[in-house]
Amino acid sequence: MCGIVGYLGKRNAYPVLIKGLKRLEYRGYDSAGVALLTKDGNLQVYKTKGKVSDLETYAADKDTTGTVGIAHTRWATHGEPNSTNAHPHISYMGNLAIIHNGIIENYAVLKKQLQEHGIEFKSNTDTEVLVQLIEYVRTKRETDLLTAVRIALRSVIGAYAIAILDKNDPDQIIAARKSSPLVVGIGEEEFFLGSDASPIIEYTDKVIYLDDKDIAVIRRGEEVEVVDFNNEKMEHEVTTVELNLAQIEKGGFPHFMLKEIFEQPECLKDCMRGRVNVEANNVTLSAIIDNRKHLINPRRIIIVACGTSWHAGLIGKQLIEDFCQIPVEVEYASEFRYSKPVINEQDVVIAISQSGETADTLAAIELAKSKGAFIYGICNAIGSSISRATNTGSYIHVGPEIGVASTKAFTGQVTVLTMLALALGKERGTIDNLRYTRVLEALNEVPEKMEQLLTQGDTIKDISRIFTYAHNFLYLGRGYNYPVALEGALKLKEISYIHAEGYPAAEMKHGPIALIDDEMPVVVVATKNVLYDKVVSNIQEIKARKARVIAIVSEGDETICKMADSVIELPHTEECLEPLLASIPLQMLAYYIAVAKGKDVDQPRNLAKSVTVE
Ligand code: G6P
Repeated sequence: MCGIVGYLGKRNAYPVLIKGLKRLEYRGYDSAGVALLTKDGNLQVYKTKGKVSDLETYAADKDTTGTVGIAHTRWATHGEPNSTNAHPHISYMGNLAIIHNGIIENYAVLKKQLQEHGIEFKSNTDTEVLVQLIEYVRTKRETDLLTAVRIALRSVIGAYAIAILDKNDPDQIIAARKSSPLVVGIGEEEFFLGSDASPIIEYTDKVIYLDDKDIAVIRRGEEVEVVDFNNEKMEHEVTTVELNLAQIEKGGFPHFMLKEIFEQPECLKDCMRGRVNVEANNVTLSAIIDNRKHLINPRRIIIVACGTSWHAGLIGKQLIEDFCQIPVEVEYASEFRYSKPVINEQDVVIAISQSGETADTLAAIELAKSKGAFIYGICNAIGSSISRATNTGSYIHVGPEIGVASTKAFTGQVTVLTMLALALGKERGTIDNLRYTRVLEALNEVPEKMEQLLTQGDTIKDISRIFTYAHNFLYLGRGYNYPVALEGALKLKEISYIHAEGYPAAEMKHGPIALIDDEMPVVVVATKNVLYDKVVSNIQEIKARKARVIAIVSEGDETICKMADSVIELPHTEECLEPLLASIPLQMLAYYIAVAKGKDVDQPRNLAKSVTVE
């Protein structure tokens, strides 16, 4: 997590850096800082607890001149969020400033060694160790900065994307990465650095995505040079980013989350474009065509993911088992990576990640790869580490997701998983033609039905106002709607800080029912499917205990309408596609409850969008 930005060029660096930090604030927002080499040749560092806007206030009356600088927005790992622990950190001789995203795992050992050499530390961070080490190596060996960085990084264990500014060299920034993303933007006589391309696209669409163990030397008036730790030159393609400003701005919505909820119909059309063809009765995923031999007959599929992506994986399991008759296991990447999984070349691992940077998912992929499994990635961020670490994959193409609570990425992931299950099922001959056609046609109609659902925003807003009093919520669903219940509960927790649990409806009797009283609202996803009658009985049991029920039902349902306190109707669709529709009102419910409670919806406390540490 943490966002890093850098600028070297002809403009005043400060406004570019601040704007860039705001774009990256989704990565962390507990403190922020900037280092500038000012017009007078001073290295000025301004940092403060809080958000980028607090940094702006803090630096308002300070010298922010200079055409080179680096800046950071933090999600604390080592050391509490305060202005001392905020980045940039300065070396003991006052020459170097560093910003860092990641974790230095052996920082304690390195710190002790440096302290034994008399170096004093100001912060509790792991990052400060890096800058002290680099300065120490440079001074001891009387070497240039690049050599010192190369040597220092050889003794560092952990994950990092770093940028370093040298007080005595206003024409250079050195940047390096390992397991944390870093992009270099190349403009006309100017260069940019970013944890992703969003701080860059306003100025240039030409970028270099750095790879692990790359060190980039950015020098005024020269081409960017990339070397490895042994100073071997690394060739890098300059790629064109296809991201536009409108995609990363709020576009009139009060929050990114609401914008992203409302974007879903268009996003799903983008996700299906060129893949779903109703006239030809076909779904095409190039990854499946290109890798038929690996994918057509695996022994089993293991899905690894975290958070919301893991919930999408649970739906994927049902789809793949249903259409393809391949056994599927769904694992938290963080558990999988430390387990002793029995996997081999006959297994396929599907890694799902919006950001494509989640450390645990990346580690799970590496583990599965080392055992010979074939890896299929489902990512949103183009060119991300996970998309590059996998053997093949399908992007979800829903555009940048900025709100920390995932919405459109979830429905995008479920859509890709649906297409994957359909395409693979057809190839394997495990789904009958009639069903294939029915699901395909219904999938194509999902965006239109989502539009319909989104018009119920005001109703959901009214419902949400009733429930702001609650301290606990229960979410129930069965079958395909069980992961929807989990995801609905997660959304509420993340942004409103109300405790919420998702459960398979039938499990309610095995514990959660003890919690139910008139103070605990229960959200039940109770669409008309094979398990409908059983869920109706659950609702009766809940009502008997005086809880208020918010029911998500199929259009025209009269039975539940009479029992529930609030009802939201879903347009009819195939049962396996219900999650795509049912998640919309749950996203809106969480959003409006959080707004009514005055919470910071886009940047909820303690969370970050991209979890690049384990
Ligand atoms: C964080 C985010 C979640 C996301 C999870 C996995 O916790 O706040 O929204 O679901 O990471 O992220 P990924 O990028 O791998 O999908």
